Amino acid sequence: MSTQASPTPTPTAPGGLPLIGHAHHLARTPLPFMTSLREHGSVVRINIGPTPAYVVTDPALTRRVLVTDAAHYTKGGKIIDALRVFFGDGLATVADGDTHLRNRRLMQPMFNKAHIATRGEAMAAQVREMVAAWPAGRPRDVYADMNDITLAAFLVALFGTDLPPHLRTEFTALMPAIMKGTIRQTVLPSWITRLPLPANRAHARRVARLRALIDQAIDHRSAPHPGVAAEAAAAGCPHAAAARAADEADGLFSTLLNAEDPLTRQQLQDEAITLLTGAIETTGTTLAWTLYEITRNPEVERRLRAELDAVCRDRPLRYDDLEQLTYARRVLQEAIRKYGPAWMVTRTATQDMVLGGHRIPAGADVVWSPYLHQHDPAHFPDADAFDPDRWTPQRAPATRGSFLAFGDGRRKCIGENFAWAELQIILATVLRTWPRFTLASRPPRPQAVVTVKPDNLTLTFHARSEAARPGGERQAAAG
Ligand code: HEM
Repeated sequence: MSTQASPTPTPTAPGGLPLIGHAHHLARTPLPFMTSLREHGSVVRINIGPTPAYVVTDPALTRRVLVTDAAHYTKGGKIIDALRVFFGDGLATVADGDTHLRNRRLMQPMFNKAHIATRGEAMAAQVREMVAAWPAGRPRDVYADMNDITLAAFLVALFGTDLPPHLRTEFTALMPAIMKGTIRQTVLPSWITRLPLPANRAHARRVARLRALIDQAIDHRSAPHPGVAAEAAAAGCPHAAAARAADEADGLFSTLLNAEDPLTRQQLQDEAITLLTGAIETTGTTLAWTLYEITRNPEVERRLRAELDAVCRDRPLRYDDLEQLTYARRVLQEAIRKYGPAWMVTRTATQDMVLGGHRIPAGADVVWSPYLHQHDPAHFPDADAFDPDRWTPQRAPATRGSFLAFGDGRRKCIGENFAWAELQIILATVLRTWPRFTLASRPPRPQAVVTVKPDNLTLTFHARSEAARPGGERQAAAG
């Protein structure tokens, strides 16, 4: 138990109703509701139906929960329980403890910078091909596009460049429905999700299909590379040829497949599902918002294009360029800050605790929200403005560590390095391929589902009338 002597009562958020508590606020106006809680204290009690939850509104206290006192606030809560039913014990859902520690250690090398760099050029090529294929002058659902591209880039990174096209097509068709079904499972009471309703059965079928696809990707990865045998035989040196071919075709997932202490097939599936669901929508949403902000901030666009021109000159983007794209990184960080993407993350108190002077009873859900912290005017003045320059080395210290988009502590996002690389590659490629893009729909409204996504976002990409563009990215046909 934390040391503070006499805790004060925790304030309860106003506007609760009998039976449902604050559930209607969370369902109808989740983001304004979350940010409004700051007015009532540093820890505020809300009721989700009959169940109380304690929302932490002070980023310093969230760090206590995630880092200093992490042993007493374990990963858990209704959302995690609901995810576990289908996704099993992947890294994001498995309880704190030895299994989490072991799998985290096993997976950490997959996502270190050096390892990601080995996949950089393959990802960039994949992204270039997809972005260049958009027809010019036709409005596009950019949120869907960005999710498709982040999925394709992630598949290339995870399973390698030679994944059979039919597998990629099926993954792409399946993932949006899986994400929708997952949201439904997490918001409905668990007894409803267990009934044999058509929607529940369809979700279970899709998850089973996803597991089968992952199995095929793993089997494909484990099978000897077809080119290897021939090359090895010709060279009379099977090991050297195998290593070379594997280097070219392998993906990050091979780290798990080749682990000394191997995971079972079920564990491999759980980890792959967890990575796919964790990687795609978070980055896809960030990119969709970034492109939207660019359409309404011409000066941001001008500076982005100037930076790209200075770094890449007249050749295509290379992975090694990313380090130098510092303004692009600030633009992406500002999109992540302004739009979440995570807005509600939970822990469970394992014993009675005192947090910020308030008592948290054992077993209670504790909620923290990157979105809430990233809109805190004490750390982010004019928090609704899109201002990438808040991340300059001069101004960033004023945010005093309250940027918690990737979490902190032992459960911090394992994919952060990967996310930055992928975000930069995709943003740079869109800008290099398309000289102009414009908003074709009404301005989108933020919608808090799994991430904070745009409710509706259509952009039109315009080609330059000149025939060819320097840089090697395919110049889109005039539209
Ligand atoms: C903008 C992009 C992303 C954001 C904002 C984000 C955010 C987060 C947050 C807030 C957590 C911590 C949750 C908690 O404390 O309970 C987390 C965990 C996690 N993320 Fe990410 N994420 C992003 C991209 C990715 C990517 C690209 C991957 C995969 C490569 C990924 C895989 C994971 C996994 C596996 C965990 C669980 C880690 C653990 O519990 O040990 N995420 N992410």
